Amino acid sequence: MMKQEKESCAATADAQSSVGEIRRVLIMGGGMMGTDIAFAVSAGREYEITVCDTRPLDIAAGIRASTAQLTEKGILTEEALSERLSRICFVRDLDGAGAAWADIVIEAVYENMALKQEVFAALEARCREDCIFCTNTSAMSPSEISRRLRRRERFCGTHFWNPAHLIPLVEVVKTDATTDEVAAAVMAFMTGIGKKPCLCRKDVPGFIANRLQHALWREAFSLVEQGIADAATVDAAVKNSFGLRLPQLGPMENADMVGNDMALSIHSYLLQHLEDSHTPSPLLCRLNEEGRLGFKTGGEGWQSWTPEEMAASREALNAYLIHMLYGK
Ligand SMILES: NC(=O)c1ccc[n+]([C@@H]2O[C@H](COP(=O)([O-])OP(=O)(O)OC[C@H]3O[C@@H](n4cnc5c(N)ncnc54)[C@H](O)[C@@H]3O)[C@@H](O)[C@H]2O)c1
Repeated sequence: MMKQEKESCAATADAQSSVGEIRRVLIMGGGMMGTDIAFAVSAGREYEITVCDTRPLDIAAGIRASTAQLTEKGILTEEALSERLSRICFVRDLDGAGAAWADIVIEAVYENMALKQEVFAALEARCREDCIFCTNTSAMSPSEISRRLRRRERFCGTHFWNPAHLIPLVEVVKTDATTDEVAAAVMAFMTGIGKKPCLCRKDVPGFIANRLQHALWREAFSLVEQGIADAATVDAAVKNSFGLRLPQLGPMENADMVGNDMALSIHSYLLQHLEDSHTPSPLLCRLNEEGRLGFKTGGEGWQSWTPEEMAASREALNAYLIHMLYGK
């Protein structure tokens, strides 16, 4: 660890928080999610943040890259960005990370059960008893990740969505041991940094939003597989119909709006015809066998994308999110 980093972390280590108060945030893993989560947390001016990663990383450069569109559009001033960066420090070794003073840890290391369990065991050996432990796992069970910890009641899932500095949702997932107090404290923390947390009361695969999202993807893949529509047409049908109103009208409010008698009538007829496979689509498997993974393999996937189209797609998504969230 660099001298300057050490001093910056040590400077915040002397004043202890009162029980339950969150001031010092330790983020384990400074990859794509950890970097954006660090920036998201810095929205709370009271937070001192340490990012710990085994690789040498320039977190400030990563945050500057992630937030380029925000600064270009004048949503984030250089002054505000510098102030937020001044409260984020980076360390490469957990013993230098001030784990003992952390009030909350958010883990965002690789999606690997053994690694996550190992990281939390190392944290439990160093952190205070009242430090709250959170995992950003997208697919694995937080109950399983915390299985071997002594104090499982202070552990929960906090599933940020990518890009974590823009998407408001954080799913706060209770394990079979998380106390209501810990869940409430984490919900309040997420609200305090401007997120829109949702409490997932049971630790189920996919939590809330990915279960909904992948129910839709299963049907979308099936429509293409059955030759009912091509991939671009499926996307266009979504974008130009219910996709347009989804940010304003969720399915539950929508059902009440149109009438649950109509919902029952539609489901009585339609559900039997929908895709209900419990295994991945055969066509999706074939794309994988052929190495057609999409953007990450040069653009061949469900559709063919040129490098310009892929860059434009990513750019348009961020621009759209910023427009929706900030009106710019
Ligand atoms: N990528 C997404 O869209 C997304 C969305 C939601 C949740 N997640 C979840 O967030 C987590 C991180 O994903 P990511 O995309 O940022 O991965 P990433 O590969 O970009 O970053 C992971 C980081 O963890 C670091 N790391 C590995 N072992 C470590 C250790 N022992 N101590 C400290 N750091 C360590 C790595 O060096 C790397 O920088 C995963 O659990 C993933 O499932 C990802």
